[in-house]
Amino acid sequence: MTEEMLLAALAERAETIEASLEVLLPGSDGLDAPLYAAMRYATLGGGKRLRGFLVMDVASLFGVSETCAARVAASVEMLHAYSLVHDDLPSMDNDDLRRGKPSTHRAFNEATAILAGDALQARAFEVLAEPDTHSDPAARSELVLALGNAAGARGMAGGQMIDIAAEGQALTLSQVARMHALKTGRLIQYSAEAGAILGRAPQQVRAQIAAYGRDLGAAFQIADDVLDASGTAHELGKTAGKDQAAGKATFVTLLGVERAKTQARMLSEQAANHLEHFGDEADRLRALAAWAVSRRS
Ligand code: IPE
Ligand code: IPE
Ligand code: MG
Ligand code: MG
Ligand code: MG
Repeated sequence: MTEEMLLAALAERAETIEASLEVLLPGSDGLDAPLYAAMRYATLGGGKRLRGFLVMDVASLFGVSETCAARVAASVEMLHAYSLVHDDLPSMDNDDLRRGKPSTHRAFNEATAILAGDALQARAFEVLAEPDTHSDPAARSELVLALGNAAGARGMAGGQMIDIAAEGQALTLSQVARMHALKTGRLIQYSAEAGAILGRAPQQVRAQIAAYGRDLGAAFQIADDVLDASGTAHELGKTAGKDQAAGKATFVTLLGVERAKTQARMLSEQAANHLEHFGDEADRLRALAAWAVSRRS
């Protein structure tokens, strides 16, 4: 599997996810119109769709229908978009640029951005619970449970708290690794696991997929830190150099760019190693792990 083939697969799945999001996030023309518009602004037409891709690609290993997988992919992209809207708020990272355009609170206003984040999060869970997502209510309930776990205090939100609380402080490597695991790793792990939940994969297989997602997520966030330190706003579609300016503890501040890159590559290989029980059908997931740390945006 060449990188070119992977990028083509990413683009194809991104189109499917976009179409699903378009249906699941309609507009409105009442007084609440700005809320709907901000939800769409934050979610549609941008992003690498890594998390949605993971859901769909893992689901395809288990023969899940593409329509069901696309709904779960859209759901996790809503949850992720919510996390970015709130991450960019003045009280958090205070970022004006996201996905190559003004961040949601800049394009609308702060109150609308906060509400759009809230509503995107709620919609993400609503979509999972809707009967169209899976014929088996137990599968839908498992998805809701897993996403709640990944997004809440023991997951993304908890990691974001540590990230903010640690500003200006010297963390140890293991403290930064834990913060990464929570703020980014848990949602990426969930995305991979969601594909296995949809496919009713046996527990042991689900655990292998989860381990792949966990290490991929850790590698992905180190790569994000490396790009923040070495990329440009033009490449990234978001402000560069902001971690250092905000006094964030990252792998780059602790190890320097080169050793952080080595660490990211190691974790990416470790991620791929969890797929050893799968055959060629998992080659795209292996290529994804390599790309997660070689990407330029
Ligand atoms: C950015 O995530 C925030 C992190 C958790 C590193 P992505 O790099 O996946 O952002 P998009 O979805 O492609 O914009
Ligand atoms: C964000 O981490 C993680 C989230 C849960 C949103 P960052 O703050 O490093 O993400 P970017 O660099 O703004 O995308
Ligand atoms: Mg942040
Ligand atoms: Mg940020
Ligand atoms: Mg970052």
